[in-house]
Parts: sequence; structure tokens; C-alpha cells
Amino acid sequence: MPEEVLVLDRTQVRRCAARIDPVAVTEEVLRRHARAEVMLPAEGYMAWRNSEGAYSRSIAMLGALTGSDPVYGLKLINASVGNPSKGMERAGGISLLFDPETARPRLLAEAGYLSALRTAAYTVASLRRLGPESFDAVSVIGCGTLARAHLELIGRYLPQVTRVHAFDTDARRGAGFARWAAERGPAMRVESAPSARACVAASRVVITLTVSDKPYAEIDWFRPGSFVAHVSLDDLCEDVFAGAERLYVDDVQLIAENPRRILGRLLQEGAILPGDAEVADPAREVRRGVVSGTLGEVLIGKVPAARPTDGVVVSNPFGMSILDVGMVNAIRGVAERDGLGTRINLLGTDGEAR
Ligand SMILES: NC(=O)c1ccc[n+]([C@@H]2O[C@H](COP(=O)([O-])OP(=O)(O)OC[C@H]3O[C@@H](n4cnc5c(N)ncnc54)[C@H](O)[C@@H]3O)[C@@H](O)[C@H]2O)c1
Repeated sequence: MPEEVLVLDRTQVRRCAARIDPVAVTEEVLRRHARAEVMLPAEGYMAWRNSEGAYSRSIAMLGALTGSDPVYGLKLINASVGNPSKGMERAGGISLLFDPETARPRLLAEAGYLSALRTAAYTVASLRRLGPESFDAVSVIGCGTLARAHLELIGRYLPQVTRVHAFDTDARRGAGFARWAAERGPAMRVESAPSARACVAASRVVITLTVSDKPYAEIDWFRPGSFVAHVSLDDLCEDVFAGAERLYVDDVQLIAENPRRILGRLLQEGAILPGDAEVADPAREVRRGVVSGTLGEVLIGKVPAARPTDGVVVSNPFGMSILDVGMVNAIRGVAERDGLGTRINLLGTDGEAR
């Protein structure tokens, strides 16, 4: 029997992704996560230095949406911090979906684009529920691939945003980002901030998209009533977590298993407590230093959605494989309907296992 795999390159992935609602797909996966209708094994992680000394790594992320219509898959996402200087994106890889009956891989898709898309979709979903009541500007720290993906989705889902304050330690990347945004049209104006601190102070919505491995943003950098999407996971200092009005995550266990990132370390040390998701009392006192819940729990009403008042609401999404699996499954539907992609037989022309 042939073992067919449908292969989608980035062009085909993008074409399919243009026909789905990525935020709706993301929110549905988050609801399934909150209802425990998923499998989310610990990530496989391997890091090394390449011949130029650049930090390089591979992450293998298995995940499944369980229940009546199960989806099983894997994202393999690799990165080397020196890639942008060679004209390549820092991160890239492949996503697989498995046949639920035979467990064989059935679909292979370029993962970099979808990975950025699902990450930006998570930020938009969190902003809709947990961001300031109204805002027309965002601050972006780090002007690489994820910054572009975020701007695209913010433009689509939050059209009231007309100003973007941006900062990058590499001035050329900052300028390139501003040029790219200007070429997309006048809907959003990118203004370069002179420092990370000035960028944080410039608006009440802050999104960290750097490759920093040293926290630098302190709580008194933020305006009262701010929301910060801590996407790059090592930008916020301990006092931001300890002093946040609310702290939302995607999955407490996944974060706590990874002390390489600041919130994982704080959870392991007991400096931040994992929280008590059963409490669903919107009037309850703010408990600082405690995880308020997951975005999925907010979406199913298990945990109250609290917008910032006079402090800072922090969202710390570690990045779950199930979001990739859900997104790839959504584009698989489009690809199969529209006949996109290339089918290959893994067993070759003989079509025989032996
Ligand atoms: N949490 C998640 O779900 C998730 C998912 C995907 C990517 N990420 C993270 O998002 C981050 C950005 O990814 P990317 O693909 O856009 O990377 P990228 O390399 O394309 O861009 C990162 C940019 O940040 C800049 N930068 C580095 N340190 C900085 C600092 N201290 N202050 C300001 N700018 C700084 C770099 O010059 C670069 O332009 C990475 O850390 C990645 O691991 C998180």
C-alpha cells in the first residue's frame, strides 16, 4: 500500500491560511485545552553552538486534540540566532499531522509561517479579553519575523490600532521593520523608540518579541493600566511577575517544566505560585505573585477575564504544540478542499514496505 503524505510548502500554507480565521482556530484549541481535551507532552529540546558560536536549537513539540474528532501531530521548530545576518529567518521547521488510525504521518507543512501566525493569533485573542478596554497604539520590542506577523494580525483584528512604537537593539532591523510597515499602507504608522524603556512607556499595550535571554523590563517602566504580552519569555524582570495585577499563561505545567525561562524558574523556586483555577469569583481580591489562570480558562468562563486597571496585566504564553496542530489541521481542510499541495509516497515507486 502506498504511504501518501501531503506536502505543503510555505506558498501553499499561506494560500490556505488566508482562507481561515486564525484567531477563531486558536481560541477553539484553547477552549479544548481548558476542557482537558488535549494531549500536551513535554517538549524535546536540544541546543548547541554552531561553528560561529551562535546559539542554535531544535524543539520537538508533540500534541493532540482529543475527543470525537482527534488530531495528532508534531511541530519540529529549529533556530539559530545568527540566521537573520545570513538573510534567513531565525526559526524554521516542519509540522506533521498523523493518521489517527495507523499513526503514520499524513501531512507535512512548512512550520515557520504557521508558528508565527498562531503565536500572533494567541496575542490577539489575549488582547481581546485581557487588554485595556480601549487602545489605539501598541509597543513592539524586537522587530523580526514575529513582529511582522503580529502587525499583520493586529491590522486585521484590531483596526483601531493606528500607531506602533517599535524598538530593536539592531537599528537596521528596526528601520527595516518601519519600512516594511510603511510599504503595507498608511493604516498603521511605525515610530521608532529610542530605547526599550521609552518603547514600553509609549503605549499601554506592550508586546515583547526579542531574542533576549536577560530580563530587562522592570515594573516601573509600565504605565498604569498596561497589558504586556511576554511572547519572547525572557524580557520581564521578576518584579513584573510579582507585582502584576493579573498573570495569565497558556499552560502552567509547560512553563514550570522549563526553568530556562524566567517564569518557569520563578515557579520552580516558589517565588510565583501556580494559582487556583477553581476560583471563579470576579470580585475576588487581586492575588499578586499567583498565576490567575490560562487564557483557555478565561475563554470557557472558568476564570474571570480581568483587564488592567491601575497596574499591569501580564500574558506569558509558553507556546503550545496543540496550537500548531490545530492550525495545521485547519489549513489541511482548505488544502484538501482546493486540491493544494504535492502528494508523495514515502515508500517510493515500489510502493511496498519490504
Ligand atoms: N511564546 C511563544 O509562543 C513564541 C512562539 C514563537 C516565537 N517566540 C519567540 O519570539 C521571539 C521572536 O522571534 P522572531 O522569530 O521574531 O525572532 P527574530 O530573530 O526574527 O527577531 C528578534 C528581534 O529581536 C531583536 N532583539 C534581540 N534582543 C533584543 C532586545 N534586548 N531588545 C530589543 N530587541 C532585541 C533582534 O535584533 C531581532 O531583530 C523569540 O524569542 C522566539 O523564541 C515565542
